[in-house]
Amino acid sequence: MSIIIKNTIFTGKFLLQLQEIDSTNNYAHNWIANNEPIDGTVIIADHQTAGRGQFGNIWKTSAGQNLTFSIIYLPKFLLAKDAFYLNMSISLGISNGLKQYFPALDVKIKWPNDIYIGDKKVAGILIENSISGNYLKSSIVGIGLNVLQTEFDPKLPNPTSLLLENKSQIELQDILNIILVKIEQEYLVLRSGNFSAILASYNEFLFRKGISADYMIPSINTNNKFTGKIIGVARDGKLEIEFNDGNKKFYFKEIEYVI
Ligand code: BTN
Repeated sequence: MSIIIKNTIFTGKFLLQLQEIDSTNNYAHNWIANNEPIDGTVIIADHQTAGRGQFGNIWKTSAGQNLTFSIIYLPKFLLAKDAFYLNMSISLGISNGLKQYFPALDVKIKWPNDIYIGDKKVAGILIENSISGNYLKSSIVGIGLNVLQTEFDPKLPNPTSLLLENKSQIELQDILNIILVKIEQEYLVLRSGNFSAILASYNEFLFRKGISADYMIPSINTNNKFTGKIIGVARDGKLEIEFNDGNKKFYFKEIEYVI
């Protein structure tokens, strides 16, 4: 079935639909290398044989049951130092889309950009940027959303899917469409330069915000857990946590959530 995206201005208007591919992000890299890419191109696959996750992890999903796609954006307006705002916009777009489709779900963003329902991961994002001078040149925004899959690799800590969380009728194509509409909306906010609006909305979805929970700080030691409360993500993209002995800010990888 061929996919047609409605209600976006440019995202997904040019869409490459593949049955099987190693990774839509890899395909997007090759596409950019060999073509003049159109802003908002979407590459979607029914099945990825070598899907990639963050930090060299693999993203393994069953054929035909999930959404695995990449958007090629050309954010030439965005300074490379502000690239995290693109990550925030994408996380927000996915969250707004899920919230619209399933208003009852407890959708959260786990900093920096995992999408959670309650305390389980439903989607992951892998953004790969290329830079020209101080600015971004192209961004491959890879998104994996678990939709109809109900069994996962037991090694994964806390996966879930939309079907597991919400038993009603779910159409892959409808969800894709809503998510692309919402991602594009946030991308346009980013393009307008309204960074503070993005940050504020992102913080509203922030997983564990204001809740007392345990964290590990690898630079201090890997055995001890520290109890703290997330205050929010700051303008520099750092996560701020309140501990007994005061507030601390962390770059990604400087702090680990105890799930
Ligand atoms: C994560 O580790 O949480 C990020 C997972 C990103 C997976 C998506 S699926 C579509 C795109 N193609 C890939 O190879 N990876 C991303």
